Amino acid sequence: MKPLSFEIIGSILIIRDSANNRVLKEFAEEKMKKHPYIQTVLLQTAKIQGQKRTRELKFLLGNRNFETIHREHGNQYLLNPLDTFFSPRLSFERQRIASLVKENEIIINFFAGVGPFSIAIARKQPNCLIHSIELNEKSCNYMQKNIELNNCGDKIIAHCGDVFDIAPHEFLNSADRVLLPLPLESKRSLPLAFECLENGKGTIHWQITDHLSSKNIDLNIVKISIEEIFATEKISTEYSISEYRIIRWIAPHIAHIAIDIELGK
Ligand SMILES: C[S@@+](CC[C@H](N)C(=O)[O-])C[C@H]1O[C@@H](n2cnc3c(N)ncnc32)[C@H](O)[C@@H]1O
Repeated sequence: MKPLSFEIIGSILIIRDSANNRVLKEFAEEKMKKHPYIQTVLLQTAKIQGQKRTRELKFLLGNRNFETIHREHGNQYLLNPLDTFFSPRLSFERQRIASLVKENEIIINFFAGVGPFSIAIARKQPNCLIHSIELNEKSCNYMQKNIELNNCGDKIIAHCGDVFDIAPHEFLNSADRVLLPLPLESKRSLPLAFECLENGKGTIHWQITDHLSSKNIDLNIVKISIEEIFATEKISTEYSISEYRIIRWIAPHIAHIAIDIELGK
């Protein structure tokens, strides 16, 4: 049988490749046998899309309960994949960022989803404060539940709404670190993230997508993009790139990339 692309979120198996019904059913049954905790099987029928980054999923097999708890590095994320974005493939990136956070930092997560980056940070660095902003009401509701579920109520403050409305009013000149986990808004969010750093100093975790012909990221091209964005917004600052990595491949030659930008240091 041809292997199909899939992911498992909590007790839900999501098959990402299309095939005929017999192949899908055989594949699902084999996975359910191998991983008895799988209760529900869904088929992804369209790519992740729109500002809320959700996807079309069709019920295939098992229970019609679409709410699940995904466990990762001792953290728990309650969510419904039909209504919210969540990717187990970002697990390493969450832990990587969490391990960089120092005591007493103030952090803003611009695109928080159901809260996994904020929770991973708060659980690893208990002495910090994270403002976690999310536009999708359903994701924001799950984030509020997840903050409680993971006992992070004193470290994470959820803000439900559009970061481009909220941050200019509430968070200018206030943070040590800003997370931008939404490549779709990479250009628009970078200048605002810079304005949210206290005295222009701190770290921005920028995420972009780029066409790569090999596994190598061309840092000169990345720097040109950053400088063009800053020049357009008339931002003049010293910066350096302390880390960069391919988070995952989205399509052949299209990479989801993490860039850590240190500013004013
Ligand atoms: C790619 S998802 C990442 C979510 C989360 N950080 C994670 O890793 O699971 C991006 C999230 O940003 C939210 N979003 C999109 N535009 C936004 C905006 N202008 N303000 C706040 N949140 C926004 C989407 O609803 C979505 O949940």
